[in-house]
Amino acid sequence: MVPGAVGRGVCDGEAMKVGIIGAGRIGTALARHFTRAGHEVKLANSRGPETLGPLVSELGATASAGTPQEAADFGDVVVLAVTWDQKENAASAVSSWKGRTVLAPINPLRETPDGIQVVDTGDRHPTEIVASLVPGSRMVKGFNTYLSTVLAENPAVDGGRRIVLLAGDDAGAKRKVAELADSSGFQAIDTGSLAEGGPLFDTGGPLSMLAGKLIAL
Ligand SMILES: NC(=O)c1ccc[n+]([C@@H]2O[C@H](COP(=O)([O-])OP(=O)(O)OC[C@H]3O[C@@H](n4cnc5c(N)ncnc54)[C@H](OP(=O)(O)O)[C@@H]3O)[C@@H](O)[C@H]2O)c1
Repeated sequence: MVPGAVGRGVCDGEAMKVGIIGAGRIGTALARHFTRAGHEVKLANSRGPETLGPLVSELGATASAGTPQEAADFGDVVVLAVTWDQKENAASAVSSWKGRTVLAPINPLRETPDGIQVVDTGDRHPTEIVASLVPGSRMVKGFNTYLSTVLAENPAVDGGRRIVLLAGDDAGAKRKVAELADSSGFQAIDTGSLAEGGPLFDTGGPLSMLAGKLIAL
């Protein structure tokens, strides 16, 4: 696929439902953007919906909490916002991923007392490993290039919009995620398939450091 802008204007203006599995730094930042844009979110973690009460209250009437299965069933798009080491448990909490549109911001990183380490995935690309945990889904990689503190900021900067790089094998799924990104104030850019685009902006990829600084004017 030729790289290029998914573009603004693909959004039909309708509110979407987004299930967010993992209500940490990235999941919370995305939930804030999506609810501000008028979308509905259902958040889930491993400790139970009741632990998410304060966050749901803060987000307002378009936010709710549930189990990972409930968040997956709720979402037109399901965000898997858990760490590299949590991804197997989180993915296995959903009975079937078939046909779901999944947004995965997961990077192969591990926080240790000595700092952040890049996980050695051997011959397999990290994106391929994540995709194998959500079989039958239409996975889109994206929203993984900003530090959570930067992602949480208003994406309107310097007269432009922060860019979100996307990769995925299904055009319809990428359009849905692009709608979410664009309606939340970002500019989505399609980098191609998971195999072609994913490595460009995954950890250590040629665009990984640059991608967090790109602005669409
Ligand atoms: N932080 C960043 O700056 C950043 C930047 C770019 C990309 N990313 C990527 O984004 C992903 C999320 O990172 P993060 O920083 O948001 O991590 P985080 O702050 O540690 O949040 C992870 C969340 O997942 C939940 N969780 C853990 N196990 C779960 C399970 N089995 N089922 C459902 N929820 C579960 C945790 O809550 P409980 O423990 O309560 O279950 C927590 O809310 C990572 O893969 C990371 O590589 C992060």
